[in-house]
Amino acid sequence: MSQDWTPASWRSKPVKQMPEYVDQAALHRTERALAGMPPLVFSGEARALQKSLASVANGEAFLLQGGDCAESFLEFSATKIRDTFRVILQMAVVMTYGGALPVVKVGRIAGQFAKPRSSDTETIDGVTLPAYRGDSINAFEFTSEARNPDPERLLKSYHQAASTLNLLRAFAKGGYADLHRVNGWNLDFVSDSPLKDRYEDLAGRIDDALRFMTACGVTSATLPAISQVDFYTSHEALHLSYEQAMTRTDSLTGDWYDTSAHMLWVGARTHQEDHAQIEFIRGIKNPLGLKVSPAMQPDELVRLIDVLNPENTPGRLTLIARMGHEQVETKLSPLVRRIKEEGRSVVWACDPMHGNTYKSQTGYKTRNFEHILSEVRGFFKVHQTEGTHPGGVHFEMTGENVTECVGGAHEIGDEDLSSRYHTACDPRLNANQALELAFLVADELKEARQFKTLKTRPVAAAE
Ligand code: TRP
Ligand code: MN
Repeated sequence: MSQDWTPASWRSKPVKQMPEYVDQAALHRTERALAGMPPLVFSGEARALQKSLASVANGEAFLLQGGDCAESFLEFSATKIRDTFRVILQMAVVMTYGGALPVVKVGRIAGQFAKPRSSDTETIDGVTLPAYRGDSINAFEFTSEARNPDPERLLKSYHQAASTLNLLRAFAKGGYADLHRVNGWNLDFVSDSPLKDRYEDLAGRIDDALRFMTACGVTSATLPAISQVDFYTSHEALHLSYEQAMTRTDSLTGDWYDTSAHMLWVGARTHQEDHAQIEFIRGIKNPLGLKVSPAMQPDELVRLIDVLNPENTPGRLTLIARMGHEQVETKLSPLVRRIKEEGRSVVWACDPMHGNTYKSQTGYKTRNFEHILSEVRGFFKVHQTEGTHPGGVHFEMTGENVTECVGGAHEIGDEDLSSRYHTACDPRLNANQALELAFLVADELKEARQFKTLKTRPVAAAE
C-alpha cells in the first residue's frame, strides 16, 4: 500500500459497489458543487466522538449506534426523524440506567443513502436493469429511467442530510432530550405493549431521582447534561465520489476530515485491504468503523488494523461484528482473543442484524427477533469468556410501527409481515422490538459489571 494519501488516492485502487455514470461530465460538475458546500459536521465534533469512543474502548462507556438500513427521499419528514431520534433516546436511557454507565449515541442517519448490493443488476420477467443502490444513486422503481444512476441525487442527499442534521441538533440541545421528558418519549404503541410496565417503572425511578436532585440544587440550569445529549451521525463510506467531495482539511490541526458525518464505516463487501474504500478511510481522521463478517480471518483483521489504526489510538476504530446467531461464539472468539493478544485498542460492537437475514415462507426478506437477541447474548458471552469489553451495539430500526422482523413481545408472525412492510432495503426493528433489545442489553451490562469487564465510573468523593 502506498504511503501517500490524498482524498483522491482511492481512485487508483480497485473499487467495488460504485455506480457507473453514463454522463461523466455531469458527475464531475456535481463533485465540484459538493466540494463547495459547507461541511455538515465540524472536525472538533469528530474528535469529541473519538474521545467518547476511547472511553468505550477502555470499558467505561457503551456505544449505541442505530437507525435506518437506508434513508429515503420519499419518506423524508420531520416526524420520521423525530420518531427515530426518540427511540434512540429511549434505548439510551434504558441502557444508561440499567448499565449505570454513559451511552455514546450515534445515529445511522443524515447520510445513510448508498447501499452495497449482491448483484449489479436485477432481472424481472426477462428485463435486466441496474440494481437499486440507494436513493443517492438511483430510484427503486423498476424502469430504466429510474435505475439509471443520476449524479443530481448526490446533491439532493447532501441537502437532505443537512436538514436532518439541523433538526437532530435542535432536538439534542434544545430540550427534546431532557431527562424530565422520559415519560413523554413513550410512543403510543409502546404504551400498549407488554413493555409498558417495565418502561414506566424505569421512568418513575428517573423522575424520583430528578426530584431528589432538584431538591439538592442540581437542575438543568446548574447541570446542562440533564437536558441535553451529544448525538453523532454515521453512515457507510461507500460512494467515494461523495465522500471525497466532503473531505476538507481542518484549519486547527491541518488534518483531513470527511465532513459528511462524524463516523464512517466500511462494510463487509468492500473491506479488501488493497481496495478503494479502505484506502479512502485510512487517511481521514474521523473515528472509523469496520464491519467484521464470519469470513474474516484473524491475520486479515490484524493487517486491516495496521492500515486503519497504525498508532493504536483508542476510539479510532470500532469493529462491528455481524456473525449471525449460530456462529457468533465460534467466529467471534478467535478474533477477540487475537486482538487482545496483539494489544490492539478497539471498540467491539455487535451488529445482530446483518448475519440473521433470511427469506420468509411468505417471500419477505426478514429477521427473527429471537435470533437477534440470541446474537447479542452470544456477543456478551464471548467477551465475558475472553475478559474483554462488550463495547456496543449496532442495529437497524425505525420509530414507525412496521412489521419487518418476526417475533418480539407483539409476536409478529410470518403472516403479519405483509401488513406493514415498508423497507426498501433490510428489515428493521420497530420501536417495540428496539426497546426490548435495549432492556436485554441493560440486563447484560448489569451482568458484565459483575464480571468486571465493564467499569462503572466511581462516584466522586465530596470535596
Ligand atoms: N446528557 C446525559 C447523557 O447523554 C443524560 C441524558 C440527558 C440522557 N438526556 C438523555 C441519557 C436521554 C439518555 C437519554 O447521557
Ligand atoms: Mn442493512
